[in-house]
Amino acid sequence: MTQAEAVVCRRLVGRTAVVTGAGSGIGLASARRLASEGANVVCADIDEAAGKAAAEETGGLFVEADVTDAGQVEALFKAAYDTYGSVDVAFNNAGISPPDDDSILTTGIDAWRRVQEVNLTSVYLCCKAALPYMQRQGKGSIINTASFVAVMGAATSQISYTASKGGVLAMSRELGVQFAREGIRVNALCPGPVNTPLLRELFAKDPERAARRLVHIPVGRFAEAEEIAAAVAFLASDDASFITGAEFLVDGGIAGAYVTPL
Ligand SMILES: NC(=O)c1ccc[n+]([C@@H]2O[C@H](COP(=O)([O-])OP(=O)(O)OC[C@H]3O[C@@H](n4cnc5c(N)ncnc54)[C@H](O)[C@@H]3O)[C@@H](O)[C@H]2O)c1
Repeated sequence: MTQAEAVVCRRLVGRTAVVTGAGSGIGLASARRLASEGANVVCADIDEAAGKAAAEETGGLFVEADVTDAGQVEALFKAAYDTYGSVDVAFNNAGISPPDDDSILTTGIDAWRRVQEVNLTSVYLCCKAALPYMQRQGKGSIINTASFVAVMGAATSQISYTASKGGVLAMSRELGVQFAREGIRVNALCPGPVNTPLLRELFAKDPERAARRLVHIPVGRFAEAEEIAAAVAFLASDDASFITGAEFLVDGGIAGAYVTPL
């Protein structure tokens, strides 16, 4: 079933959704899904070509923004409001996973700091910028991308990445609680490993590396970006009206598994 066939609902007609990291992967699949459900999509990315292409495809607005820059993040949410008149959904998703973030024993302070800035400080900045619009509206849904590594440990460590995602999870929970009575929901999306071009390339070269991970996934495969996007659209919509402060796992069962099927 294609994504277009799967979408029978139009839950986000007239809503405005800001998506960071909309140029690729989970962000791109989510921008497509949110648009297909009727949202005005504001595609933010540091990569101008990719972000523009996403905005063109989804009929939305491209805003070039580095999510680690407070001024650019404020301008992003202002552009969304000025163009469409509301900020209903903030999908704070941009993140990096660079190769120099590895074991704590070999990861230098510069790599540590860069990952914290892009993965965690960015979420602080985006929430801080989005919340005042949502408070004025008395309504809004914030979805912050954490990861399954926020809830379980990996011997194949990416220490700053994992710590940053733990931070995103704890921050989202706290914001979900703090703003619950103002009609604003804040959830942490925790995807399992996703079948991205980068992952495919890495594992094609090194099948043992893939097997070491796949054995832990009850479903027996990595996620498709569209499967994560479906969860984003759900959390963005009023169908999730009683879900806030959640650790929303979309992980093929990894976090619940001890022994997986043969
Ligand atoms: N892919 C996975 O297996 C997986 C699993 C769990 C969580 N995640 C998380 O999901 C999110 C998206 O991952 P993905 O695999 O789709 O990544 P991706 O690399 O395919 O896309 C990330 C996008 O973010 C943009 N970006 C990077 N730095 C930025 C910055 N400073 N400002 C603005 N944009 C910036 C990139 O240009 C890119 O378009 C990340 O937060 C990642 O940590 C991914």
